[in-house]
Amino acid sequence: MAISQTDKRTLPVPRHIAIIMDGNGRWAKKRGLPRTAGHAAGAEAFRRIANYCRTLGVEYLTVYAFSTENWKRSAEEVSGIMKLLGKYLEEALRDMEKNHVRFKFFGDLTRLEPKLRKLCMDAESRSAGYRGVQVNFCLNYGGRDELVRAAQAFARDVAEGKYSAEDLSEELLSGYLYSAGVPDPELIIRPSGELRTSNFLLWQSAYSEYVFMDVLWPDFGPEELDEAIAQYHRRNRRFGGV
Ligand code: FPP
Repeated sequence: MAISQTDKRTLPVPRHIAIIMDGNGRWAKKRGLPRTAGHAAGAEAFRRIANYCRTLGVEYLTVYAFSTENWKRSAEEVSGIMKLLGKYLEEALRDMEKNHVRFKFFGDLTRLEPKLRKLCMDAESRSAGYRGVQVNFCLNYGGRDELVRAAQAFARDVAEGKYSAEDLSEELLSGYLYSAGVPDPELIIRPSGELRTSNFLLWQSAYSEYVFMDVLWPDFGPEELDEAIAQYHRRNRRFGGV
């Protein structure tokens, strides 16, 4: 059952929704198309959902665009995904005034081609003042990698005398993550029928509600997002209480 028009007006939408955009390859295979065509359709699905999140008043949308493990794919597929990202960012930079989306990138961007890295940095700096939805692109991102980097950064601060080991708290550690300052996602959606979290937002997902759906990402649209939010509303979130 999808969210009804009445529910849409009365129930609060999650402040932060995260999505594992999965199933592009299978979508393409079913149609006899190259995998890159699936990613292109996936990029369109992302556009639709980012716009829809903005109209719903979702404050943060975090999407898994490329993981630290995705480099294992063929050079052709990797470069296809990077090209799509570059194209999307060029358009986003051009239409910035219209869309009011604020961009952030979670992940180690140093491994990206300099041109793409510059587009990411320009998108981040030029959109910093916008108050529409914040899109967090996870790019060369891994949840374990994020935690290792946070631990290294904290260890450096300890070595410099800024903190002692005992100062470390959940709050302090959160500040070393890519997501510093961003509230944890209430809802994490994984389409495509896979039932894994795949190294996505390991720390931030401690109390997130997961919704797994059978649809492939390129076919995911506003109706599917409504359905995921409706499932989220039916859950009873207790945060370890009774
Ligand atoms: C997972 O599907 C998807 C990815 C690894 C890449 C996600 C990238 C995009 C949606 C395009 C990026 C561009 C923008 C602008 C957001 P899969 O390839 O693992 O699918 P499969 O499991 O069916 O093979």
